[in-house]
Amino acid sequence: MSSLLQCPVCREPLLATPSGYQCVALHSFDAARQGYVNLVLSHNKHSKEPGDDPEMVLSRRRFLDLGYYNPISDGINEAVASVLAEMERTSECSVLDAGCGEGFYLARLKKALAQGSAPQLAMEYHGVDVSKFAVRFATQRDRSLGWFVASINDLPYLDDSLDIVLNIFSPANTPEFARILKEDGSLVFVSPGPRHLNGLREIIYPVTREHAAPAITEKAEAFFAPAAVSRLTYPLSLKSHEEIMDLLAMTPYYWNIDRETKAKVVALDRLQLDVDVEIRVFRKKCG
Ligand SMILES: C[S@@+](CC[C@H](N)C(=O)[O-])C[C@H]1O[C@@H](n2cnc3c(N)ncnc32)[C@H](O)[C@@H]1O
Ligand SMILES: [Zn+2]
Repeated sequence: MSSLLQCPVCREPLLATPSGYQCVALHSFDAARQGYVNLVLSHNKHSKEPGDDPEMVLSRRRFLDLGYYNPISDGINEAVASVLAEMERTSECSVLDAGCGEGFYLARLKKALAQGSAPQLAMEYHGVDVSKFAVRFATQRDRSLGWFVASINDLPYLDDSLDIVLNIFSPANTPEFARILKEDGSLVFVSPGPRHLNGLREIIYPVTREHAAPAITEKAEAFFAPAAVSRLTYPLSLKSHEEIMDLLAMTPYYWNIDRETKAKVVALDRLQLDVDVEIRVFRKKCG
């Protein structure tokens, strides 16, 4: 497969070297010993350690490893398999998880597709997150995937280079996703549905409002046409204080709630809640 990556300094293609990547202008980026490559230029960093911190990443990893979100991952894998079937690629296909966190969804996607419908396809998987802690953990899920520290606002990919971009519970930049996708490429966008985490939200907010529809549909309009939408809902029972705290640390509520409200959640050792997730597929508009 030809290079997909773009040098963040001069925008020329980045080619693999024995120690990492380099462009024709000799800008070089070494792989860390864990197997990922940091492509964020230090003058573009808006904070010292952008993105999720180690505590949040560890909570997410522990929680996701309990398997409670496997149905979400399975739903994403089905959506990607349908996109692949429609694209009718015969030899190669590239997938980027933009805002991949600690790699749970991308690693499971690779396993599912390896057992599934298109064994003849040479798949290339990349995961990008601005948190180097998250990416470091992602390499532990599957070192054979391409893991990069980079921002969704300046993705280190060439124009029209990727077949599929995934964006799962993460910040989105639709013009940037459109730039890096091929003409017939697809964006798979995953966001909380109206009742996601009700049960927890009822404890946190005096009046629980439904999650608003994601702004993506409007934001994507200039670049993408909606192709499919599915909703996945199921009940979840958390069985310990640790599980509840790990879930809380994965949500924005962890940072937004006051001490008194946090104390109410800390006191729980059982919690019934709803999982409600929407998976949208958008196809890049031609021209
Ligand atoms: C809620 S987490 C979701 C992670 C993963 N997709 C999952 O669902 O497990 C949001 C992720 O977005 C990352 N993030 C935040 N701002 C980002 C940016 N500008 N570029 C890339 N990643 C970003 C955070 O570091 C974090 O890993
Ligand atoms: Zn360069």
